[in-house]
Amino acid sequence: NTAQQVTNTPKKPDIQSIVDRIKNGKATRIVVLTGAGISTGAGIPDFRSPTTGLYDKLAPLGLPYPEAIFHINYFSHTPEPFYAIARARHPGNLKPTVTHAFLALLAKKNLLHFLFTQNIDGLEQDAGVPADKVLWTHGNWKSQHCYKCKAHYPDDLMRKAIGAGEVPYCLQDECGGAVKPDVVFFGQSLPIEFEKRQKEVLEADLMLVMGTSLKVAPCSRLPCLVREGVPRILINNEKAGDLGNRGEDVCMFGTCDDGVRRLADALGWREELETLWADA
Ligand code: APR
Repeated sequence: NTAQQVTNTPKKPDIQSIVDRIKNGKATRIVVLTGAGISTGAGIPDFRSPTTGLYDKLAPLGLPYPEAIFHINYFSHTPEPFYAIARARHPGNLKPTVTHAFLALLAKKNLLHFLFTQNIDGLEQDAGVPADKVLWTHGNWKSQHCYKCKAHYPDDLMRKAIGAGEVPYCLQDECGGAVKPDVVFFGQSLPIEFEKRQKEVLEADLMLVMGTSLKVAPCSRLPCLVREGVPRILINNEKAGDLGNRGEDVCMFGTCDDGVRRLADALGWREELETLWADA
């Protein structure tokens, strides 16, 4: 009965099964969740990778703990450390990676149902992902306000402050609050659109999770919303969350850029991908 056992055990899905699903039109509502790991190739370190991640480099700033640098309570009395690292995190004129281009290619092929990014660098939109297909769950650098009175602060003055590593202060008399980019700090709530968009995950017929340790809620809970039977692909240097625990999950361990290139090769999209990336 060993032969019987072998035929009965369901075949563990692999990349080819995902590629076939996309090729024969069974995956047209792909939901994607991305994190800092898709921008390391663009020159922005992630947070938690050992030695190269930001959180391993903050000791000189004397923080109570690394994530305090992004906590609203700490920022309200000590904004200097955030501005000491702001320039290194600000996208400036960085080029998107081929992984960002792959997201734009999915959108171009009408396969991107929705993209949740935890990143604040905005490189997805720079690569060509339409604004109505992406939610910056943790905000982005595109605007800034006084953390205290919420008054808007001019973009040119903000760019100067970031470049100089200095704290910009509110221009309103008697306020004196520090100005903060419209990035969601720990202790703050996500954009209200986040709740509304969770239905996109419920409608997904494929989920792609890339470049995230899935350590921060509520984004870390999104992969669990995927319906049973819908494949979830992880492209990441390491295991993340419960990806790999479901029968249909496929884990591609390694860099995001290599992973999307492997998918593009198997899908016959490689040339289109490289052209899209070159033009980004
Ligand atoms: N290719 C594939 N995986 C990578 C790459 C790469 N080039 N670079 C890093 N990784 C992986 C790391 O192994 C790690 O699992 O990406 C993940 C990055 O995890 P984090 O540094 O924790 O970043 P992220 O998951 O986006 O953090 C979530 O935490 O600090 C807060 O608000 C901040 O949005 C951030 C949130």
